[in-house]
Amino acid sequence: MEIKEIKVKDLDPKAFIKTQVEGIRATVGDKTAVVALSGGVDSSVVTVLGHLALGPRLKAYFIENGIMRAGEPQAIVTTFKKLGVRAELVDAKAHFFAALKGVTDPEEKREAITQTFYKAVFGPLVQESGARYLLQGTNYTDVEETVAGIKRQHNVLAQLGIDTERAYGYQVLEPVIQLRKTAVRMVGKALGLPKAIYDRPPFPGPALAARVIGEVTPERIEIIRVATKIVEEELARSRAFQYLAILHEDRVTGIRKKRREFGYQIEVRCWESIDATTGTPTHLSWPTLDKLAKRITTQVKGVVSVTYNITPKPPSTIEAV
Ligand code: XMP
Repeated sequence: MEIKEIKVKDLDPKAFIKTQVEGIRATVGDKTAVVALSGGVDSSVVTVLGHLALGPRLKAYFIENGIMRAGEPQAIVTTFKKLGVRAELVDAKAHFFAALKGVTDPEEKREAITQTFYKAVFGPLVQESGARYLLQGTNYTDVEETVAGIKRQHNVLAQLGIDTERAYGYQVLEPVIQLRKTAVRMVGKALGLPKAIYDRPPFPGPALAARVIGEVTPERIEIIRVATKIVEEELARSRAFQYLAILHEDRVTGIRKKRREFGYQIEVRCWESIDATTGTPTHLSWPTLDKLAKRITTQVKGVVSVTYNITPKPPSTIEAV
């Protein structure tokens, strides 16, 4: 099915909300639906649309996949509780790490996360809840990049010819699939979501796994989780489009306390971009870079080298995986 983009200039957020709420209600009827809340703008908007349409007949789940940022799962559940949406935290860490064990190829990693999410985790959840529908926040850019073969976005299914009813036992509803991020943010604002949510910097579906080159293990995720927290704290004032840390697969010789240490390398990226389709590195000041290097090498165990990416997208991409 051809998906037609609704451009920002043509978007009437209030009318869009009304249409989508009525659409969800008409499709789900008197049955129930579940929603996969990740706390990103897209899934947050879809959760509120589903809540408006179905009330208690919408069951929201936050999947703790073990690859989110520090404190993120609890923070999102608390935020939504304040908005009147009770999201159940599902501990699926073991499923995801088992699927990622030994996987190093970027596309295979993304595929492992996709299959775990839809089949191993959401399959049983949907069945137990008796729901027939899963609401999710696929947007227009996700579809476009996946179809163009640039990167497989983990939530794009139908456009790759995957029949979710047959493959997983439920139908996927995608209320914001015609919108790009800026338009989704406008709908989020019109829905009354807090600015911290509708204006949230982008974060990839495969979460921190998109920032670990090579095998994704609990130990390696912990390294990138701590580095990410430092980068986010230090670069929040930069007002850049996105900033992140990447853990390299290669190790390098460093020196600490006069002893040789064969340690880890962290790469920092900070992007100027409008819509993530292209990007240029932010001209960060030397004191900022210096502080990042100092904090990362002292506060992240085993890191002896910090680099800054100076390559635009293309040929780089925003994330590393
Ligand atoms: P890349 O790395 O492809 O990223 O230049 C472009 C933008 O998309 C985000 N990103 C994702 N978002 N699911 C998402 O919802 C994904 O699988 C995914 N992969 C990358 C990335 O953070 C950047 O903003």
